[in-house]
Amino acid sequence: MDPKLISPAAARNIPPILKALEPLVQSLETSQKGPLRALEVASGPGQHLIAFAQTFPNVTWTPSEVNEENIASGLTNIEPPLLIDASSSRAEWKISDASMDLIVNVNMVHISPWSASQGLFAASGNILRPNGLLSNLDFDASLKSSNNHILVYQKK
Ligand SMILES: C[S@@+](CC[C@H](N)C(=O)[O-])C[C@H]1O[C@@H](n2cnc3c(N)ncnc32)[C@H](O)[C@@H]1O
Repeated sequence: MDPKLISPAAARNIPPILKALEPLVQSLETSQKGPLRALEVASGPGQHLIAFAQTFPNVTWTPSEVNEENIASGLTNIEPPLLIDASSSRAEWKISDASMDLIVNVNMVHISPWSASQGLFAASGNILRPNGLLSNLDFDASLKSSNNHILVYQKK
């Protein structure tokens, strides 16, 4: 990845994010049939996505962003990035229904309009396979780590 795009704050968040995701991926390995697929919404330049792909090589990861970014990872379990505005209607998300086991969203909710959160939850309800998980993590740099927000939603 382009070194100019590397953010120290994003790097600091990688260990707690991986800690939060590990039990989710483990539970999906048990609950889901077939290869696991995950979508990240609001990937930015993809610093976290690359760590996810390295740590969970059995999951195929798709990055997405409202501003299209070029995520050059060299890893085989990363799909080309998608252009997704989380606030757009479900029809504008170019992803099939019931095609993802996991949707990850980090540090978007507190910096974006409420419509982006509404769109994320609405689309996730269609895109996730049964028992799939939506994981929303917000790390506010001004807050202590104990105040970070981690929310997990399961599609029934
Ligand atoms: C603080 S950055 C977080 C980037 C990355 N997830 C991270 O934690 O390093 C917030 C990201 O949300 C994206 N974003 C803002 N509004 C969005 C929307 N409506 N749909 C999708 N992404 C959005 C921005 O482009 C930006 O990349």
